[in-house]
Amino acid sequence: MTVYGITFSPTGGTDKVTELLMEAMDGEKKMLSLLSEKEDYSKHIFKSQDICFIAVPSFGGRVPQEAVKRLGMMKGNQARAVLVCVYGNRAYEDTLMELKDAAREAGFVPAAAVAAIAEHSIMHRFAQGRPDETDQKELREYGQRIREYLDSQENPGELNVPGNHPYKELGTTSFIPKLGKDCNSCGRCAALCPVGAIDPDHVERVDEKKCISCMRCIAVCPKNARSLDRNILCAVEEKMAKLFETRKENELFLGENA
Ligand SMILES: Cc1cc2nc3c(=O)[nH]c(=O)nc-3n(C[C@H](O)[C@H](O)[C@H](O)COP(=O)(O)O)c2cc1C
Repeated sequence: MTVYGITFSPTGGTDKVTELLMEAMDGEKKMLSLLSEKEDYSKHIFKSQDICFIAVPSFGGRVPQEAVKRLGMMKGNQARAVLVCVYGNRAYEDTLMELKDAAREAGFVPAAAVAAIAEHSIMHRFAQGRPDETDQKELREYGQRIREYLDSQENPGELNVPGNHPYKELGTTSFIPKLGKDCNSCGRCAALCPVGAIDPDHVERVDEKKCISCMRCIAVCPKNARSLDRNILCAVEEKMAKLFETRKENELFLGENA
């Protein structure tokens, strides 16, 4: 049996949560990123004994569509899946429901799910520093409970998660990171963009139709040369502040026979 962490994590928050959840699991562990534009994901064929933590951030209450597509190319072969949605303390709406449907479609058996909070990757003042110490302890405990549940159940019961059909409409975004003067054209942003939106030979050129505003180019730049327009960001933060006011808590969902 291998325990996989299959993640789409442009700025690392989703990876952090997944690693904490996986700590309690026995056996060989492997991380597999869904961020590569070039990888042929159809080569990933799992075994029914494997356990796959499938983790995505919530983007506008939905699963990032590239993650849905890439997951859909894999063959779950009835491997049990732990679905993980990571969000920035606003709401995750239909993310877990859509992830559950996508995992099933790819042949996984959804057995457990977690919704967890991490620092907002656009508006960093929200959920700043999360997962904090309290979250970390809780997520490790969730991992333990998931392990006990999976150990005790060969066939997980129906997994109920929040969310609706039809899903919330996909959002559009005005947050396209811009290049500043500190750029030395190293090309890292273009190489690591999950949707190939940055021209590798002219990194100042961004295909705004392709960009999904995931903020990976900002996170991976060694010169901190990419950023969002401060005025737009401040205005949106002010407008949305009420939605982020209360601290949201992590949640664990287990199959009905838990
Ligand atoms: C395009 C985009 C849309 C987002 N939409 C939401 C949202 O609807 N609700 C929320 O609480 N957080 C939202 N966030 C915050 C992310 O879900 C959160 O920061 C997550 O930890 C990012 O994962 P990563 O660090 O693995 O990239 C959004 C972030 C981005 C970049």
